[in-house]
Amino acid sequence: MSALPIYGEQGARSGTLRGKAHVRLAPDGTAPRSPLPGVALREAVLSDVPALEQLMAPYVQTGDLLPRSNYDLCRHIKEYVVAEGPTGEVIGCGSLKVYSRDLAELAGLAVRQDWQRAGVGGALLAALIAEARAYGLTEVLALTRKPAFFLRIGFARAEREHFPLKVWADCVRCPRNTCCDEVAVVLKL
Ligand SMILES: CC(C)(COP(=O)(O)OP(=O)(O)OC[C@H]1O[C@@H](n2cnc3c(N)ncnc32)[C@H](O)[C@@H]1OP(=O)(O)O)[C@@H](O)C(=O)NCCC(=O)NCCS
Repeated sequence: MSALPIYGEQGARSGTLRGKAHVRLAPDGTAPRSPLPGVALREAVLSDVPALEQLMAPYVQTGDLLPRSNYDLCRHIKEYVVAEGPTGEVIGCGSLKVYSRDLAELAGLAVRQDWQRAGVGGALLAALIAEARAYGLTEVLALTRKPAFFLRIGFARAEREHFPLKVWADCVRCPRNTCCDEVAVVLKL
């Protein structure tokens, strides 16, 4: 993944560490700046894997995220972006899984419980969408139980059968394939 073309602009609720971010894509692709005071977005590295496992574990338990093995995280670490808190701890993550020249999936989006509703997830989403645009992709999809998080920034609902590559890659092997409660959402880039 290239440098994340993202920077933050402090809005009305800024000024506190947990102020809401108003993230915009950098027009010139310059180095990333923090989307929130005290928070930095960066590409994931292999040494983040234990923290990613810890971050995702509670959401795997609730069924909001699919389980990922240590092997899978290591193998696909370049797909991940992480958000670091003020002391360098991983407080959020997300990944972009490319399926074709046109389509990628936003997956593994997670923000630590005590950092939720502070703009971190939105900042990660914006960074991954910027990355998808930089790759020249034409659409990104997500399968989610939190569609509102995506719909508010322009995603539309879709049928997961419209994405045979995704269905082929993951759904056919998923134990919830026939009783899936996730909603497919898609954003045209
Ligand atoms: C979904 C998730 C990544 C959002 O992260 P976040 O940092 O809390 O999101 P943000 O603060 O950027 O939220 C921005 C907006 O998205 C919407 N939103 C965020 N979380 C939401 C949720 N759980 N349900 C509905 N809308 C939500 C809200 O409109 C929110 O704005 P508001 O706080 O002003 O109302 C986080 O709740 C999470 O980690 N959930 C568990 C794992 C998961 O479900 N991942 C998604 C799988 S694809």
